[in-house]
Amino acid sequence: MTPCELLICAEDAMVNSYSPYSGFSVGAALITADGRVYKGCNIENSAFSPTICAERTAFFKAISEGENDFEAIAIVGKYNGEYKHLCYPCGVCRQVMKEFCGGDFKIILGDGKGEYEVHTLSELLPGGFDLRKE
Ligand code: THU
Repeated sequence: MTPCELLICAEDAMVNSYSPYSGFSVGAALITADGRVYKGCNIENSAFSPTICAERTAFFKAISEGENDFEAIAIVGKYNGEYKHLCYPCGVCRQVMKEFCGGDFKIILGDGKGEYEVHTLSELLPGGFDLRKE
């Protein structure tokens, strides 16, 4: 699957975003090494802290289905219904990626207008915490 095709899946996931408090809708599409796609959106809560980001929704759906080999995630975000800027994953989501992915895991950020950037996890989370390292 191309980056643009995965971004289209992320846009599709964003349709279900529940974000009445921030007005920021996010969609993510996570692809496994063997080509299965798991979509996620952000889901907010009036108590705020139960809110979950789109990226973690996608990861937790996949992991709970037994997946453990991930290739890339595509992410898009709209503020009040409009694409404004690239949606970089938050620090918590980067740490979740680190738990389940190698440093070469690809993070594809789309602007909703056909342009995108591709980063690796090691670029976006240098020196991230890992209890498994001695
Ligand atoms: N959000 C995500 O879904 N992913 C990110 O990486 C950053 C933030 C969501 C959480 C919240 O619903 C809204 O964007 C504003 O922070």
